[in-house]
Amino acid sequence: MDRDQAVQDAKKTSILVVDDERNTREGLGRALRPQYDVRLAESADAALEELSRRPADVMLSDVRMPGGDGLSLLKRVREKFPKTLCIMLTAYGSVETAVEAMKLGARDFLTKPVNLDQLDLVLERTLQASALESENIELRRRLDDKWGLRGIVGTSPAMEKLFDEIRQVAPTRATVLVEGASGTGKELVAHALHQLSPRADGPFVAVHCAALPATLLESELFGHEKGAFTGADSLRKGRFELARGGTLFLDEIGEIDASVQVKLLRVLETRTFERLGGGETLEADIRIVAATNRDLKARVAEGKFREDLYYRLAVVTLRMPTLAERPEDIPLLCDHFLRKFAEENGRKIHGFEPAAAAILRAYPWPGNVRELRNAVERMVVLSRGDWLTTTDVPESIRDGAQSAARDDPASNPGESLADAEKRKILAALKAAGGNRSRAAEALGISRRTIHRKLAAWGIGQ
Ligand SMILES: Nc1ncnc2c1ncn2[C@@H]1O[C@H](COP(=O)(O)OP(=O)(O)OP(=O)(O)O)[C@@H](O)[C@H]1O
Ligand SMILES: [Mg+2]
Repeated sequence: MDRDQAVQDAKKTSILVVDDERNTREGLGRALRPQYDVRLAESADAALEELSRRPADVMLSDVRMPGGDGLSLLKRVREKFPKTLCIMLTAYGSVETAVEAMKLGARDFLTKPVNLDQLDLVLERTLQASALESENIELRRRLDDKWGLRGIVGTSPAMEKLFDEIRQVAPTRATVLVEGASGTGKELVAHALHQLSPRADGPFVAVHCAALPATLLESELFGHEKGAFTGADSLRKGRFELARGGTLFLDEIGEIDASVQVKLLRVLETRTFERLGGGETLEADIRIVAATNRDLKARVAEGKFREDLYYRLAVVTLRMPTLAERPEDIPLLCDHFLRKFAEENGRKIHGFEPAAAAILRAYPWPGNVRELRNAVERMVVLSRGDWLTTTDVPESIRDGAQSAARDDPASNPGESLADAEKRKILAALKAAGGNRSRAAEALGISRRTIHRKLAAWGIGQ
């Protein structure tokens, strides 16, 4: 092929045609070639090889082929090349196979002998649907990122700083340690680091280290050969292997046993490992993100965590702020979860009454975002009206908010929440020179809420 042709083909949609029958294969190739960049493969193995050499936008494959049937090819392609759209060719009348293919992730199927008009139609439809999907994903991503980063909601300076750090380290392969109290969003950060990395198409594999005793954790991480120990009756891949090309998330790393710490250190140092009971040395092609809700450095000082491992893990440390450190994000998070759970439960709820919002804002949230999320879900599910009111707020949170308000030096002793709210709204209005929109923005509530409040107090019209 000359260079011009190659350049032209690079812009075209690429299709890999897989069929063991030469006539079908070449016939389809001829029909598609004017419009697409077409390659041919005569077996499942040849197809996989071709795809690893250069991915294709579409794979058009026969279901029935000797030596590796089309459905298992489909399964492997879906796993290894999730972006390739698969269309399967089935024998006329074999409905079960077609259904099976769709279940395995085929985008569509065609019956053999292939009608060329229908082929055009199916290809066009598949490509169009896929383009629309990526557009939707992009749109959703942009919306997501409006109030935070990759589903991590927050606009406070503390969160903006965290987002900057995430954007900076995500594209690298540096090991990251995420430290923070329970419920602050450590796992979300691990996901974001993966999604914003060049490994985003690879797997994200999470291991909850505290959930397993040392020996089990070891075989979970490293895998084992057949016969490595009693009960190991077949080879099993470990998480290091399953996360190949992707990200391994080691959650609650502070809890792991001294024996596993040594082994983990070796993996981090050499980037290699062996399965339990196995001699073969395998490459650990993974990016590691670890999380802990403990003060890991203090664990080092106590002699409970290896110092050398700590430094290997904490190449970059991200510290999650607690919700109490960023109360300005509370209204945003409340709205975010309100919308989410209202939609999930088919409820139409407009928002929080100001008094209810004020309570949620005043509560110290020791369980951080997880506690807030659960509270809002409960409120949405149990509420009756269009607005969530103070009576919808769980009692424990109402009590917690009240004692927090009592401890707050900025509030007047003995002042009720309703009074405190009125004082704050009026102060914000004053600061904004009477501009309701600006006051609403400063308070993190809607303009409409201020309007209703003022009306209720008999101020403004
Ligand atoms: N900033 C945020 N925006 C949106 N949702 C969040 C945010 N932070 C946490 N969440 C949600 O709160 C819940 C708890 O978050 P996550 O599991 O990431 O916390 P964690 O720090 O790993 O807690 P733990 O130490 O208890 O495991 C999840 O449902 C998560 O989706
Ligand atoms: Mg967690």
